[in-house]
Amino acid sequence: MNKEQLQSTARALVAPGKGILAADESFGTIGKRFKAVGIESTEDTRRRYRQMLFTTPGIGEFLSGVILFDETIRQKADDGRPLPKVLEDQGVIPGIKVDKSTTALPLSPQEKFTQGLDGLRERLEEYRGMGARFTKWRAVITIGQGIPTERCISANAHGLALFAAFSQEAGLVPIVEPEVLIDGDHTIERCYEVTEWTLNRTFDYIYEAGVELSGMLLKPNMVISGKDCPEQAGVEEVARMTVECLKRSVPAAVPGIVFLSGGQSDLQATAHLNAMNRLYDDLPWELSFSYARALQGRPMEIWKGDDANVEAAQKAFYHRAKMNSAARSGSYSEEMEKEAA
Ligand code: 13P
Repeated sequence: MNKEQLQSTARALVAPGKGILAADESFGTIGKRFKAVGIESTEDTRRRYRQMLFTTPGIGEFLSGVILFDETIRQKADDGRPLPKVLEDQGVIPGIKVDKSTTALPLSPQEKFTQGLDGLRERLEEYRGMGARFTKWRAVITIGQGIPTERCISANAHGLALFAAFSQEAGLVPIVEPEVLIDGDHTIERCYEVTEWTLNRTFDYIYEAGVELSGMLLKPNMVISGKDCPEQAGVEEVARMTVECLKRSVPAAVPGIVFLSGGQSDLQATAHLNAMNRLYDDLPWELSFSYARALQGRPMEIWKGDDANVEAAQKAFYHRAKMNSAARSGSYSEEMEKEAA
């Protein structure tokens, strides 16, 4: 394992003022998102959509990295450059999602287990050859009646840790993503409890697997009220409970925490990240973003599959990335949103 190289990539991914775009939606997920705004999902619409995002002028000011999907890392822009090269030309580091999605957890069908360890070493080698410098694996924890179970949390934590070890062996920085879902009517306290449990188990297995903490990043959910909970916690409460939970579960040697947006609105995701960075200035890790929906929602709606809308969609994407960049230092304000209008 080349520790220095892993550390330098991990640090670059959480450089001040920068965060990550997750553009690694699987065929099913991008199909669903496209359908909601009236775009047909074909290999070419997916390619043109991602090309639109990646060629946004100046986006490298706010983005350190982009997470790609297997199809996308193999695609080319209209000018013939492979899409990972388009990112490099913008000063953005290409990464790749390497899990193979979820299946029902055996003997606990309401819960999910993430697959993808078979053949992982060979796939990592291929992706590295295509320009990837970091990887992502997502595990999903559901809150509900009688769940999650220890069985679900530890099975997924074990998978995350092995993925991280394989990635570091290949010289790729792992982004470890245990997502406690926002779905349900649970309180923010229940989210805190399950998130703390999940993160502690994840780091137990990470330690056991020999993963180098300084050469990885964590991508957790924020600690937040369930989507259908009648009582919704405010911005400051989310910020404080999230940071307190992380302090109790994430080792200080981890260089950065890059949140997922997980179904929050784009404005909420920015406000929460901003509040954390405004309220705390003595944390051992960088607090940044690795959003999919909270960065792509507006630009996708504007683009609609029509190249005549590229410029307007890129403008919306640039603005959202800029707002989250400001949230990295706690200097975002609602007034800044008006710039987009
Ligand atoms: P969201 O920001 O839409 O939750 O997506 C992040 C992600 O990468 C999920 O795996």
